[in-house]
Amino acid sequence: MYYNWEEKTNTDELKVVCNLIKNGELVIFPTETVYGIGANALDENAVGKIYAAKGRPSDNPMIVHLADKRKIEDIAQNITEVEQKLIDNFMPGPFTLILEKKDVIPDIVTAGQNTVAIRIPDNIIARGIITYAGVPVAAPSANISGKPSGTNIQDIRKELEGKVSAIVDGGKTKIGLESTVVKVVNEIPVILRPGAVTPEEIDEVIGNVIIDGNVFKRLDYNAKVESPGMKYKHYSPNTKCKLIYCKDELDQIFYLKKYVNEYKRNVVVIGFNEHEEKLSLPKERFICVGPKDDYEEIAKNIFSALRQADKIEPEIILIEGLKKEGIGLAIMNRLLRTCEYDYIEK
Ligand code: TXA
Ligand code: MG
Repeated sequence: MYYNWEEKTNTDELKVVCNLIKNGELVIFPTETVYGIGANALDENAVGKIYAAKGRPSDNPMIVHLADKRKIEDIAQNITEVEQKLIDNFMPGPFTLILEKKDVIPDIVTAGQNTVAIRIPDNIIARGIITYAGVPVAAPSANISGKPSGTNIQDIRKELEGKVSAIVDGGKTKIGLESTVVKVVNEIPVILRPGAVTPEEIDEVIGNVIIDGNVFKRLDYNAKVESPGMKYKHYSPNTKCKLIYCKDELDQIFYLKKYVNEYKRNVVVIGFNEHEEKLSLPKERFICVGPKDDYEEIAKNIFSALRQADKIEPEIILIEGLKKEGIGLAIMNRLLRTCEYDYIEK
């Protein structure tokens, strides 16, 4: 079933959706980061259905979503002072914390690890669903495994319709990139996946932060890593992609033009509003993601732009990169995987 709650949550429909979750069915719902494909985290069968619907590798654990900080101790234990500070400062929000798990969380959720990833979304619809379902909700991003995360219902319906019991439409997601994933090791917060909560913000609260070495490293399929989700080909359309980032704007335009010509204009460029007319491509072959300095706007639009570009079936998708600062770090982390590390950085 499809429910549109973009204007307002319908309470009768909310009951239906929450009963589906309680009864072990899958529901797609919005959060402030990206859409999630959710199931009762305490129900092994239900969680198994998520892996099947997404075609997700079974060694990739899921984030468990709660509506309230007081519920954290139902599923996690031995929370340290640093972890508590992170909870107090960044939850609810686009922030996921890896904690030691309690036995109630089945192994299938955590892919056998003794830790569980916990997030409290800052989105009214998500919180309503989790509250009234009355159970923790396991939810990876709503997309087929390896594809860009779903940030609007049109994209998601094409990919996942028929594989879930209900789809809740809450409009385009506010942030557009997945949450920052953090694990505290020896009292130091380690960022396993960058997101809207930046290293600078974490450093301000704890006085220390490390970005895991794997964030910008190419990982092979047998690698053992803290955050297994980071090792797969990810965020990728079917078309080959190339990432282009030059500090100097004239260089940037030079390289864009060079590749547009090299591929005899059979390209789609995902780029900044200011650069559209410099390339004089047909309108559908230049997808604007926002003004070049508006990283928040770019984050919001990047995943749907990748899907839109793919539909045109060019020989290559050329993507403009940006500074690894603020949310730019998270955008570049995703785009490097999108391009399978085919990039130019000058
Ligand atoms: O914003 C988000 O985080 C979205 C929304 C729906 O909440 N969810 C999301 O889930 O992006 P997913 O499954 O696409 O990404 C979860 C990431 C993966 O990289 C996974 O490997 C990592 O979190 N992860 C989950 N549990 C973990 C654990 N116990 N230890 C280390 N990494 C973990
Ligand atoms: Mg995902």
